[in-house]
Amino acid sequence: ATVHPFYGEHQAGITTPVQEHLHFAAFDMADGATRDDLVSLLKDWSYAASRMTQGLDVSASGAVGGSPQAPPDDTGEALGLPASALTVTFGFGPGLFDARFGLASRKPAELAELPRFLGDQLIPMSSSGDLCIQACADDPQVAVHAIRNLSRIAFGRAQIRWSQLGFGRTSKTTVDQSTPRNLFGFKDGTANILADDQEALKKNVWVAASDAPAWLAGGSYLVARKIRMTVEVWDRLRLAEQERTIGRNKGEGAPLSGGSEHTEPDFTKAGKTADPAIDPRSHVKLAHPDFNKGVRILRRGYNFVDGNDDLGQLSAGLFFLSYQRDPQQFIGIQRALAKDLMSEYLVHTGSAIFAVPPGAKEGSFVGAGLFA
Ligand code: HEM
Repeated sequence: ATVHPFYGEHQAGITTPVQEHLHFAAFDMADGATRDDLVSLLKDWSYAASRMTQGLDVSASGAVGGSPQAPPDDTGEALGLPASALTVTFGFGPGLFDARFGLASRKPAELAELPRFLGDQLIPMSSSGDLCIQACADDPQVAVHAIRNLSRIAFGRAQIRWSQLGFGRTSKTTVDQSTPRNLFGFKDGTANILADDQEALKKNVWVAASDAPAWLAGGSYLVARKIRMTVEVWDRLRLAEQERTIGRNKGEGAPLSGGSEHTEPDFTKAGKTADPAIDPRSHVKLAHPDFNKGVRILRRGYNFVDGNDDLGQLSAGLFFLSYQRDPQQFIGIQRALAKDLMSEYLVHTGSAIFAVPPGAKEGSFVGAGLFA
């Protein structure tokens, strides 16, 4: 069974090999909550997360070891299940940095709600939040157990604002992992930043000591976007049109300019007609670093299906998660995607941004540097 250490230089759940399942939750601090409430909450969360990521109950007395006359500390549904590669990653939204908690002066200048993008149909209650928790595991029950118990621990101090279940990773973060597929049926994560690419991580993912603020060094910024995919419409497209939209072929994920999955796309190569082999409005071209000032991001999203809508269509899509050193990296790419052929089949319904502090030292808690 895989166990990822909770404590360390960076929080787990970013470069960690992407697990199969996600439960993500955004929280708002309770009205009237104080700085002490926030600090005690972060301490309690870190302690519980450090235990659950080892496959343990949230506390020593746990699900069945406490008084029979008291509600158990742990809800119990993960009893007997292994750690299942669980990672729990905490983030701080823009709303946390205000007078309530005496944090206004510690707010990163880069941390602001994302601007409105073309194609946004945002639902306020699927967006924003003071805090977030990303729980990823290879067993969905383990991920849900983590969010359920952490929200229970938050009782009276913070409450869930919105949450999202994800099944099926849509990226890879290590060379050994196979490239999974999203709900358009295409390989996703081919050109992602990988855990062993220290140079790319330093340049694109981790906030550096030379960036401000100092408490965020070794951390990152997390963008979450709930993107509905109109799969019924997509499924009626000719294969050639699907491939043109992405810029890669469906079978292997090879760029339409030729080669195999990991061949670099050649955007200058002519196709069968005089047109370029890779359409200039394809997703891969518009998102490619060559056309985005060299900028890259670490993608870590998941597929979702939240039942169906009133028209009997699947409420399906991609819960997009990306980690970057500066939110401008995401903003720049998302603006470039305004012309994306794929946007005809997408609606963005949720949006949030969080500053993700560095990892905690054993015995300390995530975010401690913010209060030092
Ligand atoms: C690449 C699908 C949204 C950024 C890709 C690829 C696919 C894909 C199939 C090609 C394989 C790969 O390299 O991973 C999707 C779908 C989306 C979506 C279905 C929405 C439902 C986004 C968003 C962004 C983004 C919102 C960022 C704003 C990228 C980047 C690449 C990529 C940076 C790699 C480009 C390269 O370097 O070749 N995406 N994507 N994608 N996507 Fe997306």
